[in-house]
Amino acid sequence: MFESLKPVGMDPILGLMAAFRADTRDNKIDLGVGVYQDDRGRTPVMASVKQAESRLMELEITKSYQGIAGDPEFNQRMLELLFGADHSILNSGRIKSIQAPGGSGALRVGAEVIQRARPDAEIWVGVPTWPNHVPLMSSAGLKIKEYPYYDLSSHEINFSGMMDALRQVPAGDIVLLHGCCHNPTGADLSRDQWDQIADLALERGFIPYIDTAYQGLGDGLDEDAYSLRMMAERLPELVVASSCSKNFGLYRERTGSITFIAESAEQVEVVASQAMAVARQTYSMPPAHGALLVSLILGDQELRAAWQTELDEVRHRIQSMRGLLAEGIQNNAAGQDFSHIVRQKGMFSFLGLKPEQLDALREDYGIYIVSSSRVNLAGINSSNIGYLCDSILAVLDK
Ligand code: LMR
Repeated sequence: MFESLKPVGMDPILGLMAAFRADTRDNKIDLGVGVYQDDRGRTPVMASVKQAESRLMELEITKSYQGIAGDPEFNQRMLELLFGADHSILNSGRIKSIQAPGGSGALRVGAEVIQRARPDAEIWVGVPTWPNHVPLMSSAGLKIKEYPYYDLSSHEINFSGMMDALRQVPAGDIVLLHGCCHNPTGADLSRDQWDQIADLALERGFIPYIDTAYQGLGDGLDEDAYSLRMMAERLPELVVASSCSKNFGLYRERTGSITFIAESAEQVEVVASQAMAVARQTYSMPPAHGALLVSLILGDQELRAAWQTELDEVRHRIQSMRGLLAEGIQNNAAGQDFSHIVRQKGMFSFLGLKPEQLDALREDYGIYIVSSSRVNLAGINSSNIGYLCDSILAVLDK
């Protein structure tokens, strides 16, 4: 039977990660996959996570199955982290969250539930978006529509184009949005723009689906949650996929959650039962380890404070690398402007280099950047910044 299958190309981000690992050059630089690296180019386990792990070693008395929804304490703590412990939605009875295998698992469960609720619904995704959004959503059976998001020439959000497109969205369709630290562009909507999107969602009757994978890496934990907190207050329905990969550094532990807000408490119970059916029919139950660590950290004042300090350091280091990169390449032979890099948020920005320039950076200098020209600023450090800027200046001079 397998002879009928055709090979599928590697995902552009994970393919680049494999190519970087296979490169034997000492001076290679990984600006590809969205993984945090410290100033020594390492991705260490956060100290707060290590502490939680040693506590877990003592506390954990069983490896028996957890439920389909994962750890109830994790689900509650995540709701508080996402929406704020005092948010009125948490006591409304209209919200339910289940643990999921990472942000991708969460996105997929959310997409499957949407497909069950509205088999004909279309999901509107920004151009550009994280490359895996489209296959994740379409393989759940959702039809994809696009809205413009980013203008490559001005390096700004094309907000008027986006709003024009969203004015065409029929009632009952879904609009996928990035909660903060837009991946791949780093260009985030302002609070006023978020408010306008919420107004339009109410007017048109579309349902926002917010992917929030970088809470705490933009402006801060609370600041980065503005979109979902405001929408939870104003809209009757909302879906939020969240990930602990980046802000807890739990990448390989596949730790995330999917949250649904429905019009009533009765409805949200039905939605949660559907989400659990999706989980049972795909992976059955989510992995436990990462979620238990997150529960321990968020439930303990001391650990939580230590984690927040580490997260602040991550954010500040990325911001300072933004400044160094922009400054280092601003004066270039091509006259290309890179000042947008310092205005943007989170791990990524688009450099705006041509494909042949990206090829030259990879082949001649061992510098790995995704073909969209998205750079992971967290791959830059005080040892490689000089070499990186010189190499970019050299390709811009050709
Ligand atoms: C990224 O965008 O690089 C990360 O979210 C990793 C991934 O799975 O693509």
